[in-house]
Amino acid sequence: MTKQVYNFGAGPAMLPVPVMQQIQQEFLDFQGMGISLIELSHRSKEFEAVINRCDELIRELSNLPDNYKILYTHGGAQMQFAGVPLNLLGLKPAHKAVYSETGNFSKLANREAARYGEIIIASSSEESDYDRIPAFTADMIPDDASYAYITSNNTIYGTRYQEYPDVGDTPLAIDATSDIFSRPVDWSRVGLMFAGMQKNLGPSGTAVVIVREDLIGHALERTPSLLDYAVYEKSHSLANTNNTFAIYTMGLTMQWLKDQGGLEAIEKVNEQKAKTLYDVIDNSDFYTGTAHPQHRSIMNVTFTLPDDEQSASFLKEALDNGLYALKGHRNVGGIRASIYNAMPLAGCEKLAEFMKEFEKKNG
Ligand SMILES: Cc1ncc(COP(=O)(O)O)c(C=O)c1O
Repeated sequence: MTKQVYNFGAGPAMLPVPVMQQIQQEFLDFQGMGISLIELSHRSKEFEAVINRCDELIRELSNLPDNYKILYTHGGAQMQFAGVPLNLLGLKPAHKAVYSETGNFSKLANREAARYGEIIIASSSEESDYDRIPAFTADMIPDDASYAYITSNNTIYGTRYQEYPDVGDTPLAIDATSDIFSRPVDWSRVGLMFAGMQKNLGPSGTAVVIVREDLIGHALERTPSLLDYAVYEKSHSLANTNNTFAIYTMGLTMQWLKDQGGLEAIEKVNEQKAKTLYDVIDNSDFYTGTAHPQHRSIMNVTFTLPDDEQSASFLKEALDNGLYALKGHRNVGGIRASIYNAMPLAGCEKLAEFMKEFEKKNG
């Protein structure tokens, strides 16, 4: 029996135990073939069934309309910081896009995009250390902009859009790396959504891009083939040897999500998990939440202790109690509990109890 550890790491993050057990069980012998999935050709009929099943589950779980395409792309989430502008700026002659800057990752994204076109930062919460989500509305988007861009959940700062903004007819591109499929998706507000797999979906190094079909086929001339969404779409993401293991794992995670009752059900659990921790913070003079209460994430809960020494002993004692990887990101310090879909409520309850005990002893 391995020791019970709850992994609060921000990513690569914990995966559902049944998913890892199934991987372990079939690792040496995939579906009676006598070989491993990772030894199997990406062009085989068996792998075709794996990728088709993953597509089907994404569509079913998120109620994805038929006119959206699912692409499995190389290079994790940050590769899409280039992929999005390279594919979408060409939608209009001005090659212009409008970004909302809500943290480190949206800053990196707009800087990367500025290599390919004119980028306007129409809203930002940098002045208040990204503790909130600034308004981002249709009147901020000029008519000649090709797309608008947000990060739906800010992994480092513990904030999220409670709902996607209405940016009018301009396609909205969303980096949903740290909250994809943690709640139902309102596709009517989405032009494109991408997510690195390493939090709610599967292993690192690969991303899923879900994009409305009319936004495909406008890539700038200089776009490398393996960043061009049209190349992925035409080849069902198999223009070259894709990360078959990542797609297989994501399919299993989607099946697990379905077994949990789907996105409405997982959202309820996620809200309850987050509330368990925010209640401790809100009822304490010892812990201070770093995100504005109205903009809080249900995936990354960030807070500080009175001083660095207390934080260091909190982290050490937490680890001794099987509560792993709670150190806040270097940009904000303090503590961050990442509680993605796979974190059970019991993990949050254990952390909440630990926080109360620690406060009693040290507060
Ligand atoms: C919101 C967000 N976007 C992008 C990234 C970068 O992901 P990757 O390391 O896969 O490029 C992360 C990683 O934590 C993230 O949280």
